[in-house]
Amino acid sequence: MNVLVTGGNGFVGRELVRRLLAAGEVLPGQGPLTRLTVVDMSGEGLPADPRLHVVCGSIAEPAVLGEALVAPPQLVFHLASIPGGAAERNYALGLQVNLLATLELFERLRAQGLCPRVVFTSTIAVYGSPLPALVDDASPMKPGLSYGAHKLVGEILLEDYSRRGWLDGRTLRLPGIVARPPQPSGLLSAFMSDVFWKLAAGEPFTCPVSADAVAWWMSVGCCADNLLHAARLSAEQVRERRDYTLPVLRLSMAELVEGLVQRFGEDRRALVRYQADEGLEAAFGRLPPLDAGAAEALGFRHDGSIAALIRHALGGRD
Ligand SMILES: NC(=O)c1ccc[n+]([C@@H]2O[C@H](COP(=O)([O-])OP(=O)(O)OC[C@H]3O[C@@H](n4cnc5c(N)ncnc54)[C@H](O)[C@@H]3O)[C@@H](O)[C@H]2O)c1
Repeated sequence: MNVLVTGGNGFVGRELVRRLLAAGEVLPGQGPLTRLTVVDMSGEGLPADPRLHVVCGSIAEPAVLGEALVAPPQLVFHLASIPGGAAERNYALGLQVNLLATLELFERLRAQGLCPRVVFTSTIAVYGSPLPALVDDASPMKPGLSYGAHKLVGEILLEDYSRRGWLDGRTLRLPGIVARPPQPSGLLSAFMSDVFWKLAAGEPFTCPVSADAVAWWMSVGCCADNLLHAARLSAEQVRERRDYTLPVLRLSMAELVEGLVQRFGEDRRALVRYQADEGLEAAFGRLPPLDAGAAEALGFRHDGSIAALIRHALGGRD
C-alpha cells in the first residue's frame, strides 16, 4: 500500500516514519507497505529505504503537492504545520500552510477518488484559554491563536469530507509532545522537553515554572503509537465520532523531576532550580484534569506511568 506523510521529517513525523517502515503491514489485510512518500521542507536525516520517496518543498506549492500525490495514497498522515508561535507572528504563512494547504490536500485527495484514510494532527490549542475546570469530550472550543483556529477549521473540513464519503478522516488533538531534541526551536514550551535531556545528561536545569506547575504529558513514542492506532481503526469504529482528544498523564513538575531522579540518580535532584515565570506558569502550568473518555474507549492510550513516559520520551521502546 501507498502511504503519504506530510511533515514527515518533523519531531513526530520522524518517529512515525520509523514505525511505518518497521511495520509489516501498516493496515491489517491491506498488504505490505510498498511506498512511503514523505513531503517536508527538507529530507535531511531521513533513513535510506527503497520504499521511501522524499519530496522536498512546501505543501503550499501546487507542484510540490502534485509530486507528493503522484502515487495515490490509501493512507495519509497530515502533520505538516507551522507551529503556534510562528503562525501567530506570520499570519499569512500560518493561513497558507495550516489551513489553505490542508484544504488543497483534501481537495486533491477527493479528486483521486480513492477515499483514503486521513489522520490529521490537531491540537489542544483548539480549546483556547482559560480552560474549564475539567476538559472533556463536550468542552467548548474557542481557539485563542490563529494556529488553533486553522486547526479547528481543518477538523471541521475533515469531518465534512468524511460525511460526504470523499475521505475517511480521523483527527487527533495532541498535547505538548516530549522530548523534542534540544535545539533553538523558539517554542515557549521547550522547557518541557529540555528537562528530560538536561537531567539525563547530568546538567543543571533552570525550570521556568514552579514545582507545583501541572501539565499534560505524552511522549513522542506514545504519540506515534496513537497515530498508527488511529489509522488502524475501522471505518465503522469512527463512524460516530472522528475527533479525539488524546488521554494524557497529568503531572506536576515536581513529580516529573522525581521520576527523572529515580531514573538517572539522586544527584540529579540538586541540578534543578525553579525560577517561575508567571506567563509560562499560566500558559503551561495550570492544566486541569482531562477526561478523554471517547479516545480511551477506542483504545487510545497515554504513556501509562512516569517511568514509561521518561523511557519513551528519550527514544526507548517497551
Ligand atoms: N509536538 C507537539 O507538541 C504538538 C502538539 C500539538 C499538535 N501538534 C501537531 O502535530 C504535528 C506534528 O508536530 P511536530 O512536533 O512534529 O512539529 P514539527 O514542527 O517538528 O514538524 C512539522 C514538520 O512540518 C514541516 N513543514 C512545515 N511547513 C511545511 C510546508 N509548508 N510544507 C511541507 N512541510 C512543512 C516542517 O518542516 C516540519 O518538519 C503538527 O501538525 C503539529 O501542529 C504537535
